[in-house]
Amino acid sequence: MWLTDKASEVTSERLTSLYAYPPGGAYVRANMVASIDGAAGLEGRSGGLGGPGDRKIFSLLRACADVVVVGASTAVTEGYHQPDGPALALVSRSLSIPDDYGPLSHPQTVVLTCASAPEQRRADLGRVGATLLDCGTDTVDPAAAIAACVERGWTRILLEGGPRLLGSFVAADALDELCLTTSPVIVGGSAPRPVVVDAEKVHPMTRAHLLSDDDGYLYARWIRGTDQAPGDA
Ligand SMILES: NC(=O)c1ccc[n+]([C@@H]2O[C@H](COP(=O)([O-])OP(=O)(O)OC[C@H]3O[C@@H](n4cnc5c(N)ncnc54)[C@H](OP(=O)(O)O)[C@@H]3O)[C@@H](O)[C@H]2O)c1
Repeated sequence: MWLTDKASEVTSERLTSLYAYPPGGAYVRANMVASIDGAAGLEGRSGGLGGPGDRKIFSLLRACADVVVVGASTAVTEGYHQPDGPALALVSRSLSIPDDYGPLSHPQTVVLTCASAPEQRRADLGRVGATLLDCGTDTVDPAAAIAACVERGWTRILLEGGPRLLGSFVAADALDELCLTTSPVIVGGSAPRPVVVDAEKVHPMTRAHLLSDDDGYLYARWIRGTDQAPGDA
């Protein structure tokens, strides 16, 4: 499917079907926003790049998901609250999440960490009611993180970054789809690209659709590999 429709003119039902998760087992979708020149942040946050259409698609993707997986520092910096819908999986090696960070004690929040995480921080976060799950030795392994989510019945996985976390999923070949909003601005600066991976390697992706809106944003859905995209007629 190949669309350059205006997102504002696509009905909610059509948008929902365009972003439906494919049936089956675990599926990892990432949602990121970047400027025209590839910056994934503005003044250290992604919010400055967004607009009304981006926020609409951001909310829709959350509504479609079982769990939002996000780097813990990104969640804290961007002020994530516990969403009503999907569960929240915070990824952290250092466990330097503020003890009073609200979502930590929520029953639908887990912290995906690794065996080498500091013992003191484990104890501190355990004391405030956090659920810690080890998903690797020195770093959170994407395959183990996905397995931990699946074990809880969370198969529709939405990865909201940041760039290094997304990079680890790409490097491990664990990303099925990238929904990328292009914000109609050039910002310069030294913000990271949406995907940060050290090793250079081509990961082919197939365009499933491309939407635009009156504010000049582009909303692309890219599926892993060169096969026909899910939902294609
Ligand atoms: N454009 C967008 O759509 C978008 C989305 C999200 C974030 N951002 C922006 O990106 C910037 C942050 O970039 P970042 O690369 O530092 O974010 P990140 O990928 O979320 O990494 C932040 C933290 O997540 C944890 N982490 C990530 N990968 C891990 C792994 N494999 N194992 C264990 N822990 C892991 C680490 O936590 P510990 O240090 O606690 O171990 C790391 O410091 C911010 O400016 C943010 O606003 C942009």
